[in-house]
Amino acid sequence: MENLRPETRAVHPPVVIPSGSRPFTTPIYQSHLFSFETAEALTGAFEGPNPDGSGFLYDRYGNPTAQAFERAVADLEGGAAALTTGSGMGAVNAVLMSLLRSGAHVVAQRCLYGGTLVLLNDLAERWGVEVTYVDGDDPAEVRTALRPATALLVLETIANPTTQVVDLPALSAVAREAGVTTVVDNTFATPLLCRPLEHGADIVLHSATKYLGGHSDVLGGVVVFADAELRRRVWAHAIELGSALDAHSAHLLLRGLATLPLRVRRHSDNARYLAER
Ligand SMILES: Cc1ncc(COP(=O)(O)O)c(C=O)c1O
Repeated sequence: MENLRPETRAVHPPVVIPSGSRPFTTPIYQSHLFSFETAEALTGAFEGPNPDGSGFLYDRYGNPTAQAFERAVADLEGGAAALTTGSGMGAVNAVLMSLLRSGAHVVAQRCLYGGTLVLLNDLAERWGVEVTYVDGDDPAEVRTALRPATALLVLETIANPTTQVVDLPALSAVAREAGVTTVVDNTFATPLLCRPLEHGADIVLHSATKYLGGHSDVLGGVVVFADAELRRRVWAHAIELGSALDAHSAHLLLRGLATLPLRVRRHSDNARYLAER
């Protein structure tokens, strides 16, 4: 380093990676590129970072701060793996666009969040995806709606804004029997009130912008998978979509998560008070 000119030294300052102690929270890894010791290690990293925290290459493929949030939410939801996105709609898009193709059929709850409905309409009009809407409380209606081309059942635990509560175990059981993947938007319930994977869902997603973040100062999304292979499929499309979460937002979301149980407790107490009055 001493032999190099100041121009070179200025653009390659020392990178401090602590040893002998570790930070109490995951730092903001504000680096869009990572360097490797060997060419072999670099080649492997094009498949994305590993769950053990190795193989980070380029921010759009994965970032350590974002991975810390992924692990935290996967743990809370009881999932095998998670994937962060730059917004809740990024999460909805990454899931729907990676698992659907032209000619595929979707069964969806009628009163989903408006942005998801607009996306489903768009996929129907522009990409030839067919959608059948159901009420969300009748397994027989879902069974009747299923077709050989049905790929996804799309639900919300507590729908925005109608607060409809779907019968997750009954509806996802019908989907599972038919080999259809159940996707549940769990934004309103959070994993503190409901863990949809335990009720038969395959994929759970959140607008982390809402309760997970909790401070109205960050936009983000996260998708949790029952099966790591599903994550790989969605990740492979998400890197094309460019839906990655940035490190600073991931840090804010991790900070927000720490108070999630306290906030959900208070929200629930307030809701009960209002209902009883
Ligand atoms: C249930 C639900 N899903 C998804 C979204 C989209 O999230 P974002 O605004 O973070 O893109 C929202 C936003 O209001 C929502 O309420």
